[in-house]
Amino acid sequence: MTTLLVTGGAGFIGSNFARWVLDHTDAGVTVLDALTYAGNRANLDGLDPARLNFVHGSIADPALLDDLVADHDVVVHFAAESHNDNSLDGPAIFVETNIVGTYHVLQAVRQHGKRLHHISTDEVYGDLELDDPAKFTRTTPYNPSSPYSASKAASDHLVRAWVRSFGVQATLSNCSNNYGPRQHIEKFIPRQITNVIDGIRPKLYGAGLNVRDWIHVDDHNSALWRIIEAGRIGETYLIGADGEKNNREIVELILELMGQPTDAYDHVNDRAGHDLRYAIDAAPLRDELAWSPQYSDIVDGLRSTIDWYRTNEDWWRGAKQATEAKYAAKGQ
Ligand code: NAD
Ligand code: DAU
Repeated sequence: MTTLLVTGGAGFIGSNFARWVLDHTDAGVTVLDALTYAGNRANLDGLDPARLNFVHGSIADPALLDDLVADHDVVVHFAAESHNDNSLDGPAIFVETNIVGTYHVLQAVRQHGKRLHHISTDEVYGDLELDDPAKFTRTTPYNPSSPYSASKAASDHLVRAWVRSFGVQATLSNCSNNYGPRQHIEKFIPRQITNVIDGIRPKLYGAGLNVRDWIHVDDHNSALWRIIEAGRIGETYLIGADGEKNNREIVELILELMGQPTDAYDHVNDRAGHDLRYAIDAAPLRDELAWSPQYSDIVDGLRSTIDWYRTNEDWWRGAKQATEAKYAAKGQ
């Protein structure tokens, strides 16, 4: 049985990845997670304890990493600070976790000669103009805008340097915006769904014309598995599912699916340095690794995501008031 060490596996994408792996493969998973405000042990509830092990700890702890990496076949590295708005308010932890933390992961896999898959973001490429037909490819130059995306860009560069200089067996992926169950309600889609549940009008930054390339988290995770199985060492794979929509369209869709008038939203202060548009060309992933997404229509994925937040109010209720208070203090 292949054993995976999944850093950040109690967060949104990592916990859905652990579920996906247990459902679709016979691999065993150890989650290493520091349980920051974004991590939640309950995200792993119900998973078979014979195949899922949880370790509460940090990638900032080299001795712990060393022990765990020695005992596993593959390290799948999700752990990060992930929210752009937070990186504008307090960038230091983004440098610590995303850059220095990745350094510790790299040293451990180097020491033990273990395979690594590093999870990154399309934001490393900066943004595209709204009227530009281009999409990001693996040769698009890095041009990150926020402290978050700059820290992820730095982590990608470290991984490539460890591949080239030290022969580390790593692959990388840069994915577009994920949505689905268990995403923290600070993020755009779950914030607006839980606002509507609470009778609060959704909040659009600025004019709401910024475009994101949405992908269901299960499609991200099936792509990650293909890369872990068959990706070329040292290669970068861009993951996306042709899901471009502007923020206004998403809010209108959420309102419609939740039975509200589609103009019942507010415009609020814009994000500093707000990237205009992301778009992924995932042709190499589709062609080389024969991957394709299951969710071809965001309406289906959004409907099931709305159902999940309606059914799992206990999961998000505790964070709602503080999250909204933080946004309100910034006029957002
Ligand atoms: P998240 O914020 O929901 O989860 C991050 C997890 O990392 C949390 O469980 C947190 O407790 C854990 N963590 C933070 N610091 C840690 C540390 N020092 N040691 C161990 N664990 C720590 O984030 P997410 O949205 O699930 O993103 C996961 C990864 O995917 C990140 O690397 C992010 O950059 C990348 N990514 C996210 C998206 C997206 O749309 N959310 C898209 C592309 C790439
Ligand atoms: O592209 C991948 C990235 O997608 C990941 O690397 C990040 O971890 C992930 O958080 C996400 O980054 P974004 O900044 O694009 O996601 P966020 O959910 O914060 O915002 C999505 C869009 O919605 C963005 O244009 C800002 C806007 N927005 C956000 C919030 C929270 C609003 O209009 N209103 C809001 O209340």
